[in-house]
Amino acid sequence: MSLSIQSLIESRVSVNHFDPARPVTDADIRELVRLATRAPSAFNFQNWKFIAVRTPAAKAQLKAIAYDQQKVADAAVTFIICGTLEAHKTLPHALRPAVEAGIMDQTVADTWVEFATAAHPANPQLQRDEAIRSASLAAMTLMLAAEGMGLSSCSMVGFDAAQLADTFELAGNEIPVMLVTVGYAAPGNWPQKPRRPVEEVIALV
Ligand SMILES: Cc1cc2nc3c(=O)[nH]c(=O)nc-3n(C[C@H](O)[C@H](O)[C@H](O)COP(=O)(O)O)c2cc1C
Repeated sequence: MSLSIQSLIESRVSVNHFDPARPVTDADIRELVRLATRAPSAFNFQNWKFIAVRTPAAKAQLKAIAYDQQKVADAAVTFIICGTLEAHKTLPHALRPAVEAGIMDQTVADTWVEFATAAHPANPQLQRDEAIRSASLAAMTLMLAAEGMGLSSCSMVGFDAAQLADTFELAGNEIPVMLVTVGYAAPGNWPQKPRRPVEEVIALV
C-alpha cells in the first residue's frame, strides 16, 4: 500500500537510530538520486551533486568528519549533497534535453542562459544562495523519496565542511550543503516532534 504524500510528510522523522544490519542496494541509491533530481532549481540549473557514502571505510572517514555521529556508521548510506557554484556555465547543457524534448524552444533556452549569465558571474552571494537552495530542495525530495521506498533518513549539518571537501575531493565550485543519512530505522527513535502552530508562522496577505 502506498501512502499519500500528506501521510509521508506527517510520518517522516529525523531518525537517530538506524539498523546497521540492513544495507540498501546501489540500485536503491541510484533511484533515490534519480528522484532527488526531480526537485526544482532556478532556471532548471540542476546545480547539485550527490556523493553516496556506503562502504565501511568511507563511512568511517565521514563519521569522523561528522563529529562522530554514530548514525553515519549505522545507516546504509549517507549522501553528501553538494550545491555547485557558477551554475550559469553549465546551463546550456542542463537545458538541452528540454529543448530536444520540444518543451522549450532554443530561443527561450538561450534567453534563460543570457539572464543567468547577466546575473551570476559577478555575484558570488547569488551563486552561493542558488547552490544552497538547489541542494536543500534536492535533499528534501530525497528524504521524501526515501520515505516512499520504506526507508528513513536524517538531514545533518553537523560536519566540518573544509575537512569534508578535502577528504572527499570536492571541486572548488562544490559546496557541501547537507548530509542525509538513509537506511532502515531501528527501534527507539523519537516520533516526529510537534511544530510551531500554523497561526504563529503564517501571514495571509
Ligand atoms: C539543516 C538541518 C541540519 C540538521 N543537523 C542535524 C545533525 O547534525 N545531527 C542530527 O542528529 N540531526 C540534525 N538535524 C535534524 C533535526 O534536529 C530535526 O530535523 C528536527 O529536530 C526535527 O525533527 P523531526 O523532523 O523528527 O520532527 C538537522 C536538520 C536539518 C534540517
